[in-house]
Amino acid sequence: MIKNAVFYFSGTGNSLNIAKDIAKEMENCEIISMGSSKNYDLQAGYETIGFVYPTYYRGEPQKVREFISNLNLKNNQNTYYYAITTCGKYDGNALVHIKYLLKRKDIDLTYGKKIVMFSNYVVAYDMRETIEEETKQSQKDLIQIIQSIKNREINKLFITEPLQEIAYRVLIKFAHNMDKHYNVSDDCIGCGICKKVCPVGNVDLDDNNIPCFKHHCEQCVACIQYCPKKAINYKNKTQSRRRYTYPGIKYTELAEMNKND
Ligand SMILES: Cc1cc2nc3c(=O)[nH]c(=O)nc-3n(C[C@H](O)[C@H](O)[C@H](O)COP(=O)(O)O)c2cc1C
Repeated sequence: MIKNAVFYFSGTGNSLNIAKDIAKEMENCEIISMGSSKNYDLQAGYETIGFVYPTYYRGEPQKVREFISNLNLKNNQNTYYYAITTCGKYDGNALVHIKYLLKRKDIDLTYGKKIVMFSNYVVAYDMRETIEEETKQSQKDLIQIIQSIKNREINKLFITEPLQEIAYRVLIKFAHNMDKHYNVSDDCIGCGICKKVCPVGNVDLDDNNIPCFKHHCEQCVACIQYCPKKAINYKNKTQSRRRYTYPGIKYTELAEMNKND
């Protein structure tokens, strides 16, 4: 029987939605979280294997790198491999890094594409107001990408400017500890959504159900974005900024997929 797999990582649902839409179009396709699945035991015989993840600092999240490094692909040498990175605009080397990572395992990343989606990094900027337009556009762009995957298209990926590479290497190192600057206001109602949506189990609740952060944060900002009270903030930067989550991806779905409940 034909089988396909899509591995995804997602904070605010963009990449999960892409993974779901791809999976719908592929026969018998599993969707697997790269955040919460530890030592995933991949069986043999997949026709296609995809990786879908957000661009962080012009590269990939550390968890994605770690997950793919640990993934045993020996039994899937003749599979069609593709990677899709969702980004606000600039994907930098987010795809090419995965190509090189797979190359070390003697695997060719046959096809890689970025898809521009709503840019969610509320810690760094006040997010755009164009959710509806951007969502519609990305849905349109995805149709072509899915077609390319179905046609088993091949494309070449090259490293972009070295400056972007340097920026990635510097910034990604800070990500894990940036949660030291997260604060929780008195508006927190102790609902625990922050813990459930965190794809890497970085959030715990104290005796009063107030979140605390464990310093292996990926900076996916799911806890900030899904908090129904805007009670989680970064320094004094995000209090007045709007929040974003992909329309239609509810926290319950991420929680279920994260198996972090
Ligand atoms: C830590 C962080 C870094 C980001 N860096 C970039 C970037 O370098 N280039 C870009 O175009 N978008 C960047 N973004 C935006 C995300 O890539 C984009 O919103 C993505 O679709 C979010 O996916 P998700 O909802 O699945 O988490 C960044 C977002 C975060 C949280």
